[in-house]
Amino acid sequence: MPPKVLIIGLGSIGRRHVQNLRALGVNDIFAFRSRGAAARPLEPGEQVLTVPTLEAGLARKPDIVFVTNPTAFHLATARAAVRAGAHVFIEKPISHTPNGVEEFLSEAAAAGRHVFVGFNFRFHPTIRIARERLLAGAIGRPVSARFAIGEYLPDWHPWEDYRTSYSARAELGGGVLLTQIHDIDLLNWFFGLPREVTASLGTCGELGVDVEDVAALICNYERLIAEVHLDYLEKPARRCFTIIGTGGKMEWTQQDGTLRIWRHGASEPEEHRAPLGFERNDMFLAEAAHVLAVLRGEESSLISGDAGRDALKIAAAAKRASAERRICPLVAGEREHNPFDLTGRVAIVTGATGLLGREYADELSRAGATVVATDLSQGRCVELAASLSAATGGKVIGLAADITNSEEVDRLVAETERRFGRIDILVNNAAMNPVPGLAIFEKSFAPFEEYPRELWERELAVNVTGPFLLCQRVGALMARQGRGSIINISSTYGNVAPDHRIYGPGKYKSVGYAVTKSAVLNLTRYLAAYWGPKGVRVNTLTPGGVGAGQDPDFRRQYADRTMLGRMAEKNEYRGAILYLASDASSYMTGANLIVDGGWTAW
Ligand SMILES: NC(=O)c1ccc[n+]([C@@H]2O[C@H](COP(=O)([O-])OP(=O)(O)OC[C@H]3O[C@@H](n4cnc5c(N)ncnc54)[C@H](O)[C@@H]3O)[C@@H](O)[C@H]2O)c1
Repeated sequence: MPPKVLIIGLGSIGRRHVQNLRALGVNDIFAFRSRGAAARPLEPGEQVLTVPTLEAGLARKPDIVFVTNPTAFHLATARAAVRAGAHVFIEKPISHTPNGVEEFLSEAAAAGRHVFVGFNFRFHPTIRIARERLLAGAIGRPVSARFAIGEYLPDWHPWEDYRTSYSARAELGGGVLLTQIHDIDLLNWFFGLPREVTASLGTCGELGVDVEDVAALICNYERLIAEVHLDYLEKPARRCFTIIGTGGKMEWTQQDGTLRIWRHGASEPEEHRAPLGFERNDMFLAEAAHVLAVLRGEESSLISGDAGRDALKIAAAAKRASAERRICPLVAGEREHNPFDLTGRVAIVTGATGLLGREYADELSRAGATVVATDLSQGRCVELAASLSAATGGKVIGLAADITNSEEVDRLVAETERRFGRIDILVNNAAMNPVPGLAIFEKSFAPFEEYPRELWERELAVNVTGPFLLCQRVGALMARQGRGSIINISSTYGNVAPDHRIYGPGKYKSVGYAVTKSAVLNLTRYLAAYWGPKGVRVNTLTPGGVGAGQDPDFRRQYADRTMLGRMAEKNEYRGAILYLASDASSYMTGANLIVDGGWTAW
């Protein structure tokens, strides 16, 4: 009996699968399309029953889910499908970053579910022959390989503005490297994982896109050097490869679909042509037929999740190599794993133009996250974003919001979601943080009996209600995504009482500050418990005092209270923020990470 199929995303590839599955006798097909009526109308052969949500689709118990939405959503969708008991077919690439891919594949394997990745070129008749002849030693030992794909992006989907398509948008997992990952997959299919990769990625054309439109990779094997070139600019399009071996060479071009093999000593090349009337869709049709055959237990998978993972490993190594201008090792069979990598994640940092906020924004950007830097002044936010982008090479934007104002928080979150499609990290760092010794903060150090009520209420608003509002808006979105990390910033004085003696005669650390910073600890625990089942982690970072403008007496006395005998440098919390924001702390929630030079430990 043909499987029941749910298609997620009815863009051009989703529609193609609908038509091909129908042609193969699969009729129980239904689909979820997030763009709904706003999308390009369906042609008669593409009409299917639609469901209002992914959950509604999964509730109909499909046997297999075709994940054909933008790349950045692949993994979350596929995970939901596997958890609902379905096999999954994921359009290439398997995801936009290697993060979580290995775990997902293990989960699917443990559940006995197939994961297929849409590497349709493995079903091109003359590419299959090329691989067979290569493995049979037709050109001796391969020593050099060149794969190239160039295709002018604006010509792909004439019915839409190419700049809005996922291929052109970083936040949706676009860029030529991932979008054209087929050729990287062929490299891996022919030769396996390279030992190391170096690459240059650039936005070199006039396309007005924020992703790389040219990528050049050099992949080193033990005794083979392979080059892969990908671009969004070449017109007319070209896809081809040449492999040179010790006993000959082979050449393939997509334009005529012909494979030619020259063997040393032979007067004529061996020529293999695609069958008469072969057209591009035949690859997709063969791919769909293969998937159905695997589900029936008649064939073993040619396009497994492991192939998707390995191609992505090469692409991720290329991204890293290009960003860091180095050669990235990629040992075959070993897991490529940097738990601190934030590539593809989106972060909001509040209080970003303050002393520590800019350190956090800078660190998250260097780790690969897109950062929304927010604070009270739009001018300062924009200025900071420009200087951080220039320094880190990452995407940083400045958006002002008063965190005590619900409408401004709503606008900040909505705008971030509109521009980047998701939010993975929230650093609730903004606070009223009076610095001892500065005249403007004089009243903050008043004795308790004289502590001004306005100050107390203002501190409650900024230090507690602000994080509350942000958690409410951002956390809800993270819960829908099934992933997120919230970091609430407390202080030593949220954990223990201040030692008033170091503030000088008649001066006391602000009661508002101490009380609000302790409230943060339990806001964290409350939300960690609340959102734990949804995959949203909530932790507190407790920094100790940073030496910045206080009078020397205070600094000396503060230093004496710490085990390390000094105040912190402003950059000494970067590691803690990166740890809490990234998968390095994936099993940590409801916790309080204290980094205070030992103040609270004795
Ligand atoms: N600096 C330290 O020694 C230290 C020690 C422990 C904890 N902390 C904590 O670290 C965080 C950052 O401290 P910092 O030293 O960088 O402070 P900072 O005063 O330099 O920065 C705080 C930022 O928050 C912003 N802010 C204030 N009210 C706001 C509002 N209503 N909406 C939006 N933004 C607002 C300010 O404009 C400022 O840029 C605070 O939560 C603080 O309590 C700091």
